[in-house]
Amino acid sequence: MEEQKRILVVGSLNMDQVVQVPRLPVLGETLLGAGSLKLVPGGKGANQAVAMARLGGAVTMAGRVGHDPFGQQLLVALQAAGVSTELVAIDEEEASGTAFIFLVEQDNAIIVAAGANGCLGRDAEHLTRIEEALAQASAVVLQLEIPLATVEHLIKAARAAAVPVVLNAAPAQLLSPDLLRQVELLIVNEHEAQALVTALGTPPDSTMTSAESREPAAKDVLTQARALALRLHEHGVATVAVTLGAAGALLVTRGDQPGTGPLSLYEPAPRVQVTDTTAAGDCFVGALTVALLEGQSPAQALRFAVYASALKVTRFGAQSGLPSRAEVMAFLA
Ligand code: ADP
Ligand code: NA
Repeated sequence: MEEQKRILVVGSLNMDQVVQVPRLPVLGETLLGAGSLKLVPGGKGANQAVAMARLGGAVTMAGRVGHDPFGQQLLVALQAAGVSTELVAIDEEEASGTAFIFLVEQDNAIIVAAGANGCLGRDAEHLTRIEEALAQASAVVLQLEIPLATVEHLIKAARAAAVPVVLNAAPAQLLSPDLLRQVELLIVNEHEAQALVTALGTPPDSTMTSAESREPAAKDVLTQARALALRLHEHGVATVAVTLGAAGALLVTRGDQPGTGPLSLYEPAPRVQVTDTTAAGDCFVGALTVALLEGQSPAQALRFAVYASALKVTRFGAQSGLPSRAEVMAFLA
């Protein structure tokens, strides 16, 4: 029997240093947080890898950590979730990536010190091993917490090997239309979608007016998100998912039948008690990817991802709060 193809996640690993605060301090101010510091394994890449493994995916993570205790803890966290870590290299010079997370009521503010993540792709031998694994993968999943040049390089390599690319374009960054055209599945939150669309401008063969894709205040969230997704679609991305926080998520795919327009699906989020929204987006990325790769319909996969990430926000921590497949199935039932 052929071995199951693995999903390759290439991205960041960060130790999250989390503190609860009543509000953000202003420049020059010292603020007392509530309770003590919590250390939780995180980083968009690692979170997405763990989300997928918990949800039943066979996952390999490629990344870089420092030669320090955080690096070891980040590796152990991945392994405990069943993620293969042989492509996580240990950098002798840079510190492990660190995220300073401030929880303010139902939201968060984050500062990332990239450390070793910022060197991913500079070591040619490591990059070659990643490319070899990529060629054998069922899909490659990327985010933007590693150097953009590395992301671009790997998207080209995936394209050459006919391996589908999932890109979570977060944190928001300017991406070329050329790059976007090579992405099978683009996943963004509403802010990232808006930033991308604004930067990309109107595609030459657009059937939409500019106003339709740039009217943040006037329209409701869903209409606005749909316009943004359609615009990204016009820029050549096959499938676009836009997450809308407590409002759920939208999935716009190319129509199956020739001559039909794109298919737009919306799934509202179930109402939940919010504990920590950190990694909600990562959980969504992991869940949607796993569900689509295992052959669920776009509508089923979207529902699976929305329910998985709603469960995530009820729990504390990035990786520590990610749900198992059994928990999501029970929640969906
Ligand atoms: P990001 O974390 O990248 O900003 P979102 O905030 O859009 O992404 O959250 C991702 C997904 O997590 C949403 O599409 C939704 O399914 C789920 N989610 C986020 N916040 C909530 C919430 N308050 N209640 C229920 N589900 C939520
Ligand atoms: Na959000």
